Amino acid sequence: MKEAVLSKYRELFGKEASSAFFAPGRVNLIGEHTDYNGGHVFPCALTIGTYAAAGKNPDGVLRLYSMNFETLGVIEAPVADLVYDKKDDWANYPKGVIRTLKNHGYTVNEGMDIVYYGNIPNSSGLSSSASIEVLTAFIAGTLFGLDLDLVEISKLTQEAENRFIGVNCGIMDQFAIAMGKKDHAIFLDTATLDYEYAPIRLEGCKIVIACSNKKRGLGDSKYNERRQECEEALAALRKELPIRTLGDLTEEEFEANRHLIGDPVKERRAKHAVYENQRTIHAVQALKEGNLRLFGELMNASHVSLRDDYEVTGIELDTLVENSWKQEGVIGSRMTGAGFGGCTVSIVQEDQIDTFIRNVGEAYLSRIGYAADFYVVEIGDGPAVL
Ligand code: GLA
Repeated sequence: MKEAVLSKYRELFGKEASSAFFAPGRVNLIGEHTDYNGGHVFPCALTIGTYAAAGKNPDGVLRLYSMNFETLGVIEAPVADLVYDKKDDWANYPKGVIRTLKNHGYTVNEGMDIVYYGNIPNSSGLSSSASIEVLTAFIAGTLFGLDLDLVEISKLTQEAENRFIGVNCGIMDQFAIAMGKKDHAIFLDTATLDYEYAPIRLEGCKIVIACSNKKRGLGDSKYNERRQECEEALAALRKELPIRTLGDLTEEEFEANRHLIGDPVKERRAKHAVYENQRTIHAVQALKEGNLRLFGELMNASHVSLRDDYEVTGIELDTLVENSWKQEGVIGSRMTGAGFGGCTVSIVQEDQIDTFIRNVGEAYLSRIGYAADFYVVEIGDGPAVL
């Protein structure tokens, strides 16, 4: 991969790159749709991700090329005037990041040539876009010697996604990618950004990702809609309760006050946010106590809540998860990421993985009419110079 981006760089730009770089993708184990509700999340970085070869240029231009989108060619944009342009497609992510760095006073006063190559399946919900964003900030930080730590990178790249791209995401993806640590998941309180690394010891099991291959479309607008529903539920609760976020509530406090919301749909959305946050806290506790079974049960409960109360799963993800639950050696299974398509995450006993993939794959194909893809993944580190 490293050689591939370096040699493409040489071919396109006729010189050697300064360095090759990597940033991971991520998978969230539990704590879904809690990060914009002041709750906890528990994601980890993966060993798959985005590679890049990069160097500065004296022309004041960003020249961006992706080996995943070769037909789009080299996309150029002046560093002094970076604006969103639909036709620039994926390149809006790096453009947005550089623009955001500059908005915050970081000196990026020369151009950059960058070749990207990602081995995260596209639109899979494993955060290929956040991976590009964090990677770009990391490259700029390295090439321009910026005083940028990884937490700052996660905040700035989230801002780029919110303001430049217009997706109102929380901080989970960018944080998980920037702060990734091999064989650990990150227990993050999104209200304070306090975090703790928890070792993931899976006792003869592995993390298996099933990609639904459902094309997302409406996803982003539904995402913003859920966020809005939670904000409205919170506003109604705050008329009576001294809380800042839905993450401030226990299940009992929520049950005692849910009538204040006054709308059954928003009540269910808020219920998910509150219960999922508490589930995430319990799940991490269970893992610390070596209770992988309980961790798996909480993953399953998370899916049920995302299906019934938050309504972000859909037939594809439900088919994958409900068939996963039926298989031997499955500790837990749930949708992961935003939902509406994308992936599921399952913890599966190693000696059952082949049967798991065959059975779930067949059930999915016969119900949905096209195939799912499966990946056995490892937990990796955050961004690096290679
Ligand atoms: C997407 C967003 C994250 C988070 C998840 C749902 O991945 O980018 O911020 O909200 O959905 O948990």
